[in-house]
Amino acid sequence: MTASMAPGTHLFWFSGTGNSLAAARALAAALGEARLMPVTAAQRLPPPPAAVVGVVFPVYAFGLPAAVERFLETMPLAPDAYLFAVATAARTPGAVHRIAADILTRRGASLAAGWTLRMPGNFAPVNRSFAWGGDGALLDRADARIAGIAEAVREGRRGIREDSMAPLAWIGQRMHHDAQRQLAHTARHFTVGRHCTACGLCATVCPVGNITIEGDAPRWGDRCEACSACLQWCPVGAIRMRGLGANRRRYHHPAIRAQDIAEQAEAAGEESPPAAP
Ligand SMILES: Cc1cc2nc3c(=O)[nH]c(=O)nc-3n(C[C@H](O)[C@H](O)[C@H](O)COP(=O)(O)O)c2cc1C
Ligand code: SF4
Ligand code: SF4
Repeated sequence: MTASMAPGTHLFWFSGTGNSLAAARALAAALGEARLMPVTAAQRLPPPPAAVVGVVFPVYAFGLPAAVERFLETMPLAPDAYLFAVATAARTPGAVHRIAADILTRRGASLAAGWTLRMPGNFAPVNRSFAWGGDGALLDRADARIAGIAEAVREGRRGIREDSMAPLAWIGQRMHHDAQRQLAHTARHFTVGRHCTACGLCATVCPVGNITIEGDAPRWGDRCEACSACLQWCPVGAIRMRGLGANRRRYHHPAIRAQDIAEQAEAAGEESPPAAP
């Protein structure tokens, strides 16, 4: 079967440091007629179901970010839609596509294909073996793969599942569900240094509006998605996390700006607190 490309192609994205957004943009450009939206937009105003739906997001703890799971559980689905996923990962996708496929199966749908793109890692405290920094060769290889993924989507290819734990997927799923409970408390591990300028950028990039600037410093709420955006985008490196050395280099994708990441909160209608004067 050949998947119909236009006008019914929706491409959703979730991203903390821009890898997944950059991949989603490149894929949208390669597909030609895709409508690109943050997953948080669907939360507020679900778009009409499309014939072809792709989701691009980072791997978290061998699985999906909780926000993307919620999206897959609730997004409007057209009968017989061609559904695909592109996960960006530092090294180990785990059971990410198996988990996505199971969510869709519970809704009577199926994941046609799940690709994984290796990109720089953005969560050093958990696993220091993650690739780190703006590794140009890694980003070039990811870009090069996107044309092939777009071609496969156009052809309506099925049966691709780029997990790393395929035979032992249930172990990956168990590990993910245990880890996801911990990830929800990530913000408890953030502290802010005295050199914080109260610029408000951490609050602006938080995709779920979990940060407010109170007085002269950020305060975190209790609905963290563990995306690392606040930690990584702070322009003066004032946010620290337990296990992250003080001089650790911060990372974001070189082609993505903080304002691009802020689209997620804007789309969800989250109030971004005003920057300090
Ligand atoms: C909380 C968290 C957990 C992560 N877990 C994994 C993992 O299990 N396997 C992996 O390969 N990368 C993992 N990563 C790295 C990201 O998947 C990877 O850097 C991704 O490309 C980041 O995408 P983004 O820039 O769109 O946020 C994790 C990152 C975070 C923030
Ligand atoms: S981005 Fe950094 S400097 Fe700006 S308010 Fe947040 S912690 Fe402070
Ligand atoms: S508080 Fe920080 S890590 Fe948590 S969702 Fe917001 S930006 Fe991401």
